[in-house]
Amino acid sequence: MNYPFWDIPHLGSGWVIGLIAIYHVMISQFAVGGGLYLPMAERKAMRMKDRAIADAWMAQLVRHSKFFLILTGVFGTVSGVGIWFAIGLTHPEATSTLIHNFVFGWAIEWVFFIIELTTVAVYYYTWNRIDPRLHLTVGWVYAGASAATLIIINGILTFMLTPGDTWIAVAGTGHEASKFWNAFFNPTYWPSLLLRIGVCTSLAGIWALITSSRIDGDQQPALKTSMVRWSVKWLVPSFVATPFLLAWYLFMVPETQRTLLTLGIDTIAGGTFSTVTRIALIIVITSATIVAVAYYLAWRNPADFNLSHAMAVLLLALIATGSGEYAREMLRKPFVIGRWMYSNGVRVPSIARLNTEGYLAHSNWVWTAPDGAATSSYSRGEAIFRGECGSCHTMYGYRSLLRLMNGRDRAGIRNFVVMLHDDKPDSPYHKFMPPMTGTPQDMDDLTEFLNAKVNPPAPSRPKPLLTAQR
Ligand code: HEC
Repeated sequence: MNYPFWDIPHLGSGWVIGLIAIYHVMISQFAVGGGLYLPMAERKAMRMKDRAIADAWMAQLVRHSKFFLILTGVFGTVSGVGIWFAIGLTHPEATSTLIHNFVFGWAIEWVFFIIELTTVAVYYYTWNRIDPRLHLTVGWVYAGASAATLIIINGILTFMLTPGDTWIAVAGTGHEASKFWNAFFNPTYWPSLLLRIGVCTSLAGIWALITSSRIDGDQQPALKTSMVRWSVKWLVPSFVATPFLLAWYLFMVPETQRTLLTLGIDTIAGGTFSTVTRIALIIVITSATIVAVAYYLAWRNPADFNLSHAMAVLLLALIATGSGEYAREMLRKPFVIGRWMYSNGVRVPSIARLNTEGYLAHSNWVWTAPDGAATSSYSRGEAIFRGECGSCHTMYGYRSLLRLMNGRDRAGIRNFVVMLHDDKPDSPYHKFMPPMTGTPQDMDDLTEFLNAKVNPPAPSRPKPLLTAQR
């Protein structure tokens, strides 16, 4: 507990990252896919024989690139910085580990961001002002820079799920950065990169359906038909490849994490149904619906394809992307950095020390007076709850401990805490909750705090009945 705890009541700080991240991923992956879409569409228009339709395509691409510039350049960048703030506050320990490991990776990433933002602005503002071939080149530079941002961030994101044996072997020695490339090209790097590229190209098509749905199909039927159909084609590669890539990805995830998924599938009939499995089903259903809408409404009737159809596809894609990111988070439980750091910031090798010295022994945030009485604004038990449980649970809202503990008396709560502390490999909680670390005194303090919430002491005197006063 070297850092303060960021308390977000009801929602939990994890969801703050989650909400910003889902929103950001929808836009940033569009920035990558759309970065490819624009120069490819421009090149296609340049090669068209029919000048009238080519000019109409160009005019439409100018409109699309304005939308693209605003969405990615404003909302994408702001939400990206938002993630930085949110992870720094929510997972300071993990963020620090990532920065120490990948500082040059991130520095390069920021260089590509600058190239990306510069070229996208140049691209939009130089339509019909510079030589068309030079303009197209600017588009390709943008596409390359934005692809590079994905190539880099993917190494850091996948590292968190599967850091790889080589990195784990040096973790904690101070020589982690010497294994930069092993950590970067970790076991899930390639399947995840290809999966994300698939998402990027589909999002390019989906967002292009939004702008092309607004073309007047009565006035410009040829433009609308060709544009809508060409955009639908962007969905095809990922829909064909995703099942195989997903299988490859899951194959690279350690067995212990994968059981979170298979646990649900094996036992659907039995009634237990893990969250990850439910999420996987949502992804399958939304993706299938996207295929149906894209085929029947966009491909077969492009002239009638309207904004509400396009928004429906976008909404389904949002649900699928959000579910995918949520499932990835769930797969990583109970870790924030696989096999190395638990979601609550406790490093795996430091458990023994925390168990003898005490969880709060080195905390700057709970000051204990020499006579043993805690003098911070909240009790030691609350500090332990915040530090050890608060990254996944809230008291009253999301994954509420009040609800999950409901019905247990003091002894029951204490037994639960002891079970979490012992963390036997066959404990049902071992798979998704970190061990509770600390001394027997810490266990008592946590029990005391939880018990006071779950079983609040009865008021000492019954309230007098209110009589009606007139
Ligand atoms: C890595 C995230 C994580 C951390 C940290 C964590 N939990 Fe959990 N906990 C979970 C998940 C996930 C569930 C399953 C939630 C559900 O079923 O809705 C859960 C379930 C529970 C349950 C219900 C168990 C049951 O059988 O019904 C209790 C009680 C609980 N946690 C207490 C705690 C306490 C106390 C701490 C801190 C010492 C803690 N948890 C830390 C993730 C975590």
